[in-house]
Amino acid sequence: MKIIEDIIEMQRYVTQLRWEGKIIGFVPTMGALHKGHLSLMEHAKNESDHVVVSIFVNPAQFGPKEDYKEYPRDMEGDTEKIAYVGVDTLFTPSVSAIYPEGYRTYIEVKDLSDVMCGRARPGHLRGVATVVLKLFNIVKPHKAFFGQKDFQQTVIIKKMVEDLNSDVDVVVLPTVREEDGLAMSSRNQYLGPEERKSATVLYRSLEEARLLFNKGERSAELLRYTIIKIFKSEPSVLLEYVAIVNPKTLEEVKEAEEGTVIALAARIGKTRLIDNIVL
Ligand code: PAJ
Repeated sequence: MKIIEDIIEMQRYVTQLRWEGKIIGFVPTMGALHKGHLSLMEHAKNESDHVVVSIFVNPAQFGPKEDYKEYPRDMEGDTEKIAYVGVDTLFTPSVSAIYPEGYRTYIEVKDLSDVMCGRARPGHLRGVATVVLKLFNIVKPHKAFFGQKDFQQTVIIKKMVEDLNSDVDVVVLPTVREEDGLAMSSRNQYLGPEERKSATVLYRSLEEARLLFNKGERSAELLRYTIIKIFKSEPSVLLEYVAIVNPKTLEEVKEAEEGTVIALAARIGKTRLIDNIVL
């Protein structure tokens, strides 16, 4: 596996590959890799000739009081995992290369960035959109692969690609879960044993809402109430929001229908977790 740190080197290398007619698949990550990340890479391998994975913990998407410094980093372990999956190129730029002194340009996807996670984490989605567009400009992929777990992120990236005419096919893949349903996340490492048990409430409550929907319930208010009630039985977990939304506009719906997304965020101690389902 080729490892590239330098931005210009990455651009030149991929330009050459495109010249040779190779389809470039790209999986951007912040490292601390788990099976969710690896499933994106497997898919990318199946759908492209050359897979690039980036590892970059992006300071622009962390708020001043958030866990940028503590965010888990394991370059050695990650490199092994990526090589094992059969990724072709690992791109690991430095913070000073991505945001050199005097950096001034940010991408804002209006409205879609202000709701849900954007409300609790102002600036977060602006940081995500900015770094993803920069990475697209550096890696020049034909296809980029993202996880449904970060649902709002996928909506914002798709909208940015559409609005800015980026020539990248955005592919969204299902959330990979632990056996008990907890969505895999690099932040699960923060959880103590008791917290880890309580954390299943995110998925449990979503599945309960799905069950009700499948039985014919359509009222978003009732589905939301069901989720809130289940969270009340797990007082160590603080529900931050439940959003029952149109998957394109992120507007709250009154009546749920097939394709409606229920997304939520919760805090367990200092750890913030998110999850969602598509009805
Ligand atoms: P990170 O949290 O490292 O996630 C990288 C990719 O893996 C994202 O597309 C995310 O949705 C996906 N992913 C995470 N957990 C998953 C799971 N359990 N199942 C399936 N996919 C999962 O998301 C980011 O990094 C950053 O915001 C990034 C896009 C790299 C920009 O900095």
